[in-house]
Amino acid sequence: MYKIENFEIYTTHQRKRAIEDLYKRSTLALSVMSLFAFNSPASFAMNEEEDMKSHVKASYGAIAKSQKPCFSCSSKGCDEGQDKPSAKEYSIGLGYSEQELEESVGADLGLGCGNPGAIASLKEGEIVVDLGSGGGFDCFLAAKKVGSLGKVIGVDMTPDMIELARANALKRNYTNVEFILGEIENLPLSDSSADVIISNCVVNLSPNKEAVFREAARVLKRGGRLAISDIVTTTELPEEIKGNIELYTGCITGATKLDKLKSMMEAAGFGEINIDVKEDSRSFISKWAPGSNAEDYIASAYIYATKLQ
Ligand SMILES: C[S@@+](CC[C@H](N)C(=O)[O-])C[C@H]1O[C@@H](n2cnc3c(N)ncnc32)[C@H](O)[C@@H]1O
Repeated sequence: MYKIENFEIYTTHQRKRAIEDLYKRSTLALSVMSLFAFNSPASFAMNEEEDMKSHVKASYGAIAKSQKPCFSCSSKGCDEGQDKPSAKEYSIGLGYSEQELEESVGADLGLGCGNPGAIASLKEGEIVVDLGSGGGFDCFLAAKKVGSLGKVIGVDMTPDMIELARANALKRNYTNVEFILGEIENLPLSDSSADVIISNCVVNLSPNKEAVFREAARVLKRGGRLAISDIVTTTELPEEIKGNIELYTGCITGATKLDKLKSMMEAAGFGEINIDVKEDSRSFISKWAPGSNAEDYIASAYIYATKLQ
């Protein structure tokens, strides 16, 4: 906190540095806040994108370091003392089976909003990419399904998440899973190299969703499948939610309207698009940021499509 009265005891040099620091911080805060004052576009200017990604990285880096499950895609939801369901209750509510939870004990940070593996119809030998792989939970479940002839690649931009996922893979002796540091708007993978792309509660966090779908289409083979669980808006978000960076990192503010999502996917080259909104997800979303009433405006959805060309 900067108090003007404290300037009394500063030397001229200290005062100059404090003013410069205050200016830098307020410019960053204003530029981030101003992003949300307008209609939550699907993409932002380059420096604004970087500001938003820094917030997201800081938030998920802290979660990776703490290694404590959140059971909410929300930094607010990770707060101690919140009324939260048990780990198992939360993940079963997202659509995981008891067997899946047992198979990946300890890797579930509870940061998802569904179970993309449930709609991906993974087969033995397939190459799978997980966008925003976090601690690796969905990758490990996919690795069992594709077997030793297949491979799963998790991509995440937060170094601490990649470190955690690699440690989890070592602990579990997975040899068909790899974790790569990178951004989903610029995937570090070659063209037409994957059969399936999965993702769990990550696309909403991207300030450039058009680029995410373009990259997904580039990396998928022709006829390849996109199977995502993510947050969508079902009603226009109110201004107080749009302007809240904490709710952005918590998978609320960055949600996209269904028609916009569909047109971005079509423009990227996807067809057979199916977006299935899960009305019952509103009950777990209500615990993400209590008091915000976010559940009245957003819901979790299963998003499925195939690459046409
Ligand atoms: C809500 S968590 C979900 C993690 C994981 N999918 C799960 O369900 O446990 C979001 C993850 O996506 C990553 N992420 C967010 N934006 C990203 C981006 N633009 N590029 C790559 N990773 C991103 C974060 O670092 C974080 O690990």
